[in-house]
Amino acid sequence: ILIIAVLFIAAYLIGSISTAVWLGKAYYGIDIRHHGSGNSGATNTFRVLGKKPGTIVMLIDIFKGWLATSLAGLLVIFDVIAADNLVYFQLVMGALAVVGHIFPVYERFKGGKGVATLLGMMLAIQPEVALMCMVIFVIVLFTSRYVSLGSMIAALAFPILLLLPRFHPDNPILIIFGFILFAVVVLTHRKNINRLIAGQESKANITLGRKK
Ligand code: G3P
Repeated sequence: ILIIAVLFIAAYLIGSISTAVWLGKAYYGIDIRHHGSGNSGATNTFRVLGKKPGTIVMLIDIFKGWLATSLAGLLVIFDVIAADNLVYFQLVMGALAVVGHIFPVYERFKGGKGVATLLGMMLAIQPEVALMCMVIFVIVLFTSRYVSLGSMIAALAFPILLLLPRFHPDNPILIIFGFILFAVVVLTHRKNINRLIAGQESKANITLGRKK
């Protein structure tokens, strides 16, 4: 029980790592939450600080979700749980990382929208479907130029793709959790949704094939 509690707390603390806020403060002297959309995430880092820091934040935030979810494997390695039950612990630990990202303990619970960390979680649990969600994200982003719309559609695509016979998981809990996490993403994108409806959402500046 102790090791489970320690890992759950670790997952939340890993998720809480506020990459965008810390990078902005350390190297650019700004609090990203006071600029652009005010979100502490990769998208806003791209928007406010540029490609290089944006990419770093995106990769670290994805890694947080992947790491927290993958750490659940230790419970099987140390014989604390049966391998059949691994998915439950992956889901809880991944979700705790996403919650940590949205409500980071180190930053007065003001964090990001959970998309990159959720992607990391999906990559750890179902990499094939996660990669398809990334492709869907890129297609929506390039056609609409709205990152938020791409994030929400990709988050919805995950449980929907799992419904297909080809990807249907042994344990349906993965699908149920997928829909719950999609609902979380919708909640964190409330302002984006209002802006999208009002036609005021900022569009991404996509410059293909141009370096720097
Ligand atoms: O991943 C967050 C993205 O979907 C929206 O970010 O900064 O445009 O609100 P932002």
